[in-house]
Amino acid sequence: MKIEVEQSRCGRLIVTRPVMIATTLHESGVLNAGVFGAYTNVSPTKIAVAIGRGSHTYANVKRTREMAINVPPAELATKFDLVAEDIPPTESEVEKAGWHPFASSKIATPGIEECLAIVECAYVDEMDVGYHSLVIVEAVAGHVDDDVLTENGLVDVLKARLCHAVAYPEPLYARFGEVFRAV
Ligand SMILES: Cc1cc2nc3c(=O)[nH]c(=O)nc-3n(C[C@H](O)[C@H](O)[C@H](O)COP(=O)(O)O)c2cc1C
Repeated sequence: MKIEVEQSRCGRLIVTRPVMIATTLHESGVLNAGVFGAYTNVSPTKIAVAIGRGSHTYANVKRTREMAINVPPAELATKFDLVAEDIPPTESEVEKAGWHPFASSKIATPGIEECLAIVECAYVDEMDVGYHSLVIVEAVAGHVDDDVLTENGLVDVLKARLCHAVAYPEPLYARFGEVFRAV
């Protein structure tokens, strides 16, 4: 079950910067998805994502002014290459991967049910950084699986099976080997 998280904590849902999947809506209403590793939290609620300007994600976020950032567990990694493929806008990567849409509360774009956390985002600004545009979005709502939730409403990185890209474009991923509390 997904728990709703208050806005001021949404950025923390992706604080360890694992691979994420951005979902956006095509003009037709078909749900698009792309895999992203080049992003970071820049404030408690703002996230900057380097998005290729030729991608569907970029066209969709510019047109709709919104996107959902989905944090997948490592078990979904076998589908990342499929999701990163350039498929026609009449088809949904989410459907092709066998995943399901998760209805957002504040934006029209659905997230992905199979992901651990979903951050609903609104477009704020962007900066041309060459091939990519560094798109800044603001979290407007967030949802997290109750089984990876800490007592204070954040993602428990000891429980979450987060997944990091370590040699993109090679399909080589890492999970935390050792996480320790320095007390
Ligand atoms: C692990 C991984 C990380 C990626 N990171 C990025 C990234 O940070 N920025 C980017 O523009 N594309 C990145 N890509 C490539 C996009 O996923 C790919 O261009 C995809 O086609 C975008 O989807 P779209 O055209 O449906 O928007 C990554 C792909 C993989 C597999």
